[in-house]
Amino acid sequence: MAKASASFVCQSCGATTSKWSGRCEACGEWNSIVEEKPLSAGPAKKSLGAARGRSVALSDLSSTEAPPPRTASALSELDRVLGGGLVPGSAVLVGGDPGIGKSTLLLQAAAHFAQAGLGTIYVSGEEASAQVRMRAQRLGLDQAPVRLAAETNLRNILTTLEQEKPKLAIIDSIQTMWADNVDSAPGSVSQVRAAAHELTSFAKRHGTAVIMVGHVTKDGQIAGPRVVEHMVDTVLYFEGERGHQFRILRAVKNRFGPADEIGVFEMTGAGLAEVLNPSALFLSERGQPSPGSVVFSGIEGTRPLLVEFQALVAPTPHAQPRRSVVGWDGSRLAMILAVLEARCGIPFAGLDVYLNVAGGMKVSEPAADLAVAAALLSAREDAALPPETVVFGEISLSGALRPVAQAENRLKEARKLGFSSAILPSGGKAAAASGMTLTQMADLTAFVGDVFGAG
Ligand code: TYD
Ligand code: MG
Repeated sequence: MAKASASFVCQSCGATTSKWSGRCEACGEWNSIVEEKPLSAGPAKKSLGAARGRSVALSDLSSTEAPPPRTASALSELDRVLGGGLVPGSAVLVGGDPGIGKSTLLLQAAAHFAQAGLGTIYVSGEEASAQVRMRAQRLGLDQAPVRLAAETNLRNILTTLEQEKPKLAIIDSIQTMWADNVDSAPGSVSQVRAAAHELTSFAKRHGTAVIMVGHVTKDGQIAGPRVVEHMVDTVLYFEGERGHQFRILRAVKNRFGPADEIGVFEMTGAGLAEVLNPSALFLSERGQPSPGSVVFSGIEGTRPLLVEFQALVAPTPHAQPRRSVVGWDGSRLAMILAVLEARCGIPFAGLDVYLNVAGGMKVSEPAADLAVAAALLSAREDAALPPETVVFGEISLSGALRPVAQAENRLKEARKLGFSSAILPSGGKAAAASGMTLTQMADLTAFVGDVFGAG
C-alpha cells in the first residue's frame, strides 16, 4: 500500500514539490507553498476508467441558446465594462489598490442594481454596517433596498445567501473571508482560494451573481493570485493615480463580453461620477501647444480615447541617464529610443528622458509608438507639434511605420474633439472621408525630416 504522503503545492502556479520551501522554484513567488493532504488517505484508488460512471447528456453546437438575460444598472460605464449589464449566476472579481474606491463603486452598483429590481445583499468583512450606512448616506443612496451584513465567516454567509436567495451578492472583500474548514489565517492564499471557490460555485448553483472585491498586492496582482482569476467569469481592475480624481475600471477577463473594455469615473465628494466623454476629460488640462506634448488617438476596448503624452528631455548630470515612465511601458520606451538613435541618427545618450501620460491614464497599445516618438523629438528639439494635431502609428525595429487598427474611429474621435489634422502611417485603410488633414508617412526618418526638419 502506497503511503499517503502530503505534498506541497504552490498556490500561485500550482507546481508540486515534496518538501516545503519559502520560495517556489517554478514561478519564484514567495510564501506561496502550502501543504495539501490527499483527499482520501486510504489505499490507492483504482483508475477512473476501471469503474463505470454515469453517461453524460451530449448536445449539438448548433442548438440555439438565448443570450444571457442581463440587468443594466444606472451606471452605464459599469454596464459597458461588464459587457452590457450583469449576467445572472456570474462571478465577478473587482481588484484594485486599497483606497482606490472599490467599496464606493460597489455600494453604488449595489444600490443601482437593487433599484433596477435585483434583490441585493452587500456583505462587508472590513467595515461595520454603520460605516457602510454612513457611506450610503453620503452617496445619497440610503433609500436603496440593499440589505447589509457585516460578517467574515463564509459558512454563515453562504447559509444566509441560501435562505435569502438574492439575485446579487457583493462580498467586500475576498481577503477578509474566513472558511472554517481551511486551517490557515484569513487573507492567506488557501483561504482566498477556498472562499472564491465556494462563492463561485454558489453563484453557478443558485443563479446569484456574486461580485467579490480583491485587494491587489504591491506588484499588481490580486492576492491569492492566478487561481482566483481562473475561477471567476469576469475580472475587473479599478485603477487610477491617488492624486488624480479619475478612476478607470478595466475588464482584463470577461466570459460575457469583450476584454480590455474600460469605464471611466471621477471620484467626487459624493462618490463616483461617470465620465461619458473621457477624451474631453483627459485633454481638459491641456493649455497651449507646448514642446514635448503630443495627443495620441487611442482605442480602449471598443471605444476611441484621446490622451496626451508628455515628454521632458534634459541633459543629465549622471553617468547613467534616467529613463522614467508613467503610464506607458518602460521597455517599449527603450525600444523607441534605440530606433530613433539607430535608424534616424538622433542620440539620447547623456540626456535624461521623462515620459508621462496625462491624467493618470495607462496606455498599452503599440499604436502609441509614433506619439511617444513625436513627444520625445518635440521635447528634444524644443519644438511644438502643429496645433490641433493627433498622432498614432506603430514603429517597427527597422524604423518603418505600421498602420494600426481602427484608424477611422481614431480620426472620428479626434475630429469630434476639435482636432483638424493627423499624422499616421501610410497604407492601411486610412479614412480620407474623415474630414481631417492627413499626413501619412512610411517611416520614422521621413517623420523626423518632415515634422522637425531634423535627422
Ligand atoms: P473606498 O471605496 O473605501 O476604497 P477601497 O474600498 O478601494 O479601499 O474609498 C476610499 C477613498 O475614496 C477615500 O479615501 C475617500 C474617497 N471618497 C471620496 O472622495 N468621495 C466619496 O464620496 C467617498 C464615499 C469616498
Ligand atoms: Mg473597501
